[in-house]
Amino acid sequence: MTTSDEQDEMKTAEMEEKQSRVAAGASVSGGLASPPRPAEGEPEAETMTTRNLKVSFGKTDAVKGVDMEIRARSVTAIIGPSGCGKTTYLRALNRMHDYSPSARVSGTVLLGDRDIYGDDMSPVELRTRVGMVFQRPNPFPTMSIRDNITFAPRRHGRVRRGEMGELVERVLRQAALWDEVKDRLDDSAIGLSGGQQQRLCIARALAVKPGVILMDEPASALDPTATQRIEELIYDLKKHYTIVIVTHNMQQAARVSDYTAFFYVGNLVEFGETDQVFTNPREERTEAYITGRFG
Ligand SMILES: Nc1ncnc2c1ncn2[C@@H]1O[C@H](COP(=O)(O)OP(=O)(O)OP(=O)(O)O)[C@@H](O)[C@H]1O
Ligand SMILES: [Mg+2]
Repeated sequence: MTTSDEQDEMKTAEMEEKQSRVAAGASVSGGLASPPRPAEGEPEAETMTTRNLKVSFGKTDAVKGVDMEIRARSVTAIIGPSGCGKTTYLRALNRMHDYSPSARVSGTVLLGDRDIYGDDMSPVELRTRVGMVFQRPNPFPTMSIRDNITFAPRRHGRVRRGEMGELVERVLRQAALWDEVKDRLDDSAIGLSGGQQQRLCIARALAVKPGVILMDEPASALDPTATQRIEELIYDLKKHYTIVIVTHNMQQAARVSDYTAFFYVGNLVEFGETDQVFTNPREERTEAYITGRFG
């Protein structure tokens, strides 16, 4: 017998599988081919800007008009109580809501100076420039470690066959996973531990050379050691990438981020340098939240 809980769980798993393919830069319904970009060199870290960004689901206004500038080559943490719109905001930066029929998005999202919802940027191009890592590690379950990484670059024809091995090694090294998996690249990705799977998902995101990486509570399912590795990785990556991380962990936000955004019921209440937000918040609500008085 299949209970409705199990059905929900299966639906969620299917949805996440689809979304991770989307996030990895593959088109779901055979979208436009992305324009060629150089296979070598550094990724183009870019700023992202939102102006009056609103997202609603039916009658729920999840994000209520957020203006924010996300700086290049830095880590921006998004914090705030459960349900305040952090995930919804993050997904709007990568057009993930395109696949939710009930979602309505308005306002402007710029990548550099280009409107990501504008006609001149295809969702496929966008996803090669803005990568995403989800809360639960979601490697493609039927693929090997190697194929998880090469799937999207192969789809885009961005890397020649002979260069795939090099790409796999490079991104696995960047994600601090190479030494642990170099002898088992053809094994199934789901044989990895949770922390290794999450680093694989980060390697997979890096393989399309995005300039921006969005992470939604990437360490929340991991133990302290795995969490520390992810944090060190984020610290290293910010030299070349623009990183946005949603986290419930105040210490983590304080440790890894340069800027912090505090969200509350769909609004951006405070944005500033992390030191300032944590030691001298301007808003009473920020102070109440970071000192643990609510949320
Ligand atoms: N697909 C959806 N359909 C309907 N409502 C949604 C959907 N996604 C989010 N919401 C609603 O939007 C609001 C914001 O949700 P969101 O997931 O962005 O919160 P969050 O800050 O990420 O919370 P958490 O810390 O618990 O992850 C909530 O009221 C939520 O119920
Ligand atoms: Mg969330």
